Amino acid sequence: MSLLAAIDIDKSYQTQSLVGKSRRKTVLEKVSLTIAEGETVALLGRSGCGKSTLARLLVGLEQPDAGQVLFRGKPVPALDRAESRNFRREVQLIFQDSPSAVNARFSIRAIIAEPLRHLTTLREAQRETRVRELLRMVELPADIAGRLPAQLSGGQLQRVCIARALAVNPRLIILDEAVSNLDIHLQASALALLARLQRESGIAYLFVTHDLRLVKRFASRCLVMDEGRIVEEIGSAGFDHVSHPASRLLHQAVLPPLPVR
Ligand SMILES: Nc1ncnc2c1ncn2[C@@H]1O[C@H](COP(=O)(O)OP(=O)(O)OP(=O)(O)O)[C@@H](O)[C@H]1O
Ligand SMILES: [Mg+2]
Repeated sequence: MSLLAAIDIDKSYQTQSLVGKSRRKTVLEKVSLTIAEGETVALLGRSGCGKSTLARLLVGLEQPDAGQVLFRGKPVPALDRAESRNFRREVQLIFQDSPSAVNARFSIRAIIAEPLRHLTTLREAQRETRVRELLRMVELPADIAGRLPAQLSGGQLQRVCIARALAVNPRLIILDEAVSNLDIHLQASALALLARLQRESGIAYLFVTHDLRLVKRFASRCLVMDEGRIVEEIGSAGFDHVSHPASRLLHQAVLPPLPVR
């Protein structure tokens, strides 16, 4: 049984044009995917093709117009209280835009401890220990815990969001461009941390990205999205032999590793 699945998901938004006419804009059309325990899947697509919308639907932050999201084989709206709590603990989303994903008035300590308060029975002292451990894991200094989000750099805040997602030992993390904002060194160490966690505990990842290099290094399977549809699925052996025009465009858009003289 899959850990998380989407079946034939449709999603559209009401939009207002300049002259005030409202119409519906289709963002996702018949999108299906499955993620098994311990797997690393990439979701690759151009800007605006619907990746973040799909990510929000997969964790239940938004509802599809049609189709279903299944958690361990059961439709999310049909989960009972305990199952729904498990769903919220086991499937974590790291948002693309970390500043707007955190409460600006909360300390870093409170931000990382938030899922621990809601989804675990840890007491305050135990939560503090866990927060310190998580900060170490993402290579942030312990004294950052008392600061506010505005007092951190973008890359530091992104690692705070990674720490918060890891806090409750999830089984699947959806990373919406979650390592894009890090410099090469931090990106490599964040990926090494994620790979280690996967080896140790069999956690699964869905990497949402438009960076094919990341996909090649990390994913065993890649879904290519274009204009709200999944247009191609590639296994790791096929990353260099993509066929759909949308995949080819992304393939050609990869920058050379060093500037060409
Ligand atoms: N709440 C909303 N209301 C109206 N339109 C929306 C809403 N959220 C997203 N959209 C539209 O849906 C489309 C897909 O947006 P989405 O953020 O999912 O794209 P994306 O693939 O994540 O892009 P990027 O790579 O730039 O992050 C866009 O055209 C966007 O304008
Ligand atoms: Mg996005």
